[in-house]
Amino acid sequence: MRVLTILGSPRPNGNTSHVLSWVEQSLRSSAHSVDRITLIEHVLGPCRECGMCRKPENPDLCHAPTDGANAIFNKMIRADAIIIASPLFCWGFPSHLKALLDRLYCVVGDCDHNPEYATKLEGKPIGLLVTCAGPEEGNAELMIRSYYALVRFLKAIPAGHVLYPFFRTTQDLTQQDRNRATEFALRMAAQCTM
Ligand SMILES: Cc1cc2nc3c(=O)[nH]c(=O)nc-3n(C[C@H](O)[C@H](O)[C@H](O)COP(=O)(O)O)c2cc1C
Repeated sequence: MRVLTILGSPRPNGNTSHVLSWVEQSLRSSAHSVDRITLIEHVLGPCRECGMCRKPENPDLCHAPTDGANAIFNKMIRADAIIIASPLFCWGFPSHLKALLDRLYCVVGDCDHNPEYATKLEGKPIGLLVTCAGPEEGNAELMIRSYYALVRFLKAIPAGHVLYPFFRTTQDLTQQDRNRATEFALRMAAQCTM
């Protein structure tokens, strides 16, 4: 199985990266291949709502200025499974990751006029890993709900989420935290064999 991980933290070696590395190690030790995109290395602009991706005569992906987003979308399309790893920023996704998620609009067919619309990520397991400084309750639900809503919209498979609350430094992490990362990796792998 080829797993694409997308690190949505602006810190390439921060908390989220640390936990994501555990998930990646676990997948690799079960003979899966892992390719990580560190999103902050790509300067992604917003969806400009140009509608070009919906025009039948334009079968390409996003038509916004070439900033590498299409290369990321193509990697997502080719992967067997995707993990989005993100810190919680103001109850939601950090802005550069939100830009990418908004622009996934371009992998979706004409959903305005056809409820049977096709999407290029249909049937693909997508999981979410979140780290945050506060609790889950009253804090992280908005992000988690938007993840499930987005996955439904993409007709992808919700492979589930794992949340690391009250996360200040990597020194706070325990063996139990590592076990949760391993369990999440195993759940992802199981989704691909179903
Ligand atoms: C701009 C900003 C906004 C944040 N907003 C929240 C928040 O709404 N809720 C929360 O629990 N933690 C919040 N945090 C804390 C981070 O989610 C947390 O420290 C996370 O583990 C950082 O991960 P990273 O090192 O991978 O970037 C925020 C941090 C920053 C810098």
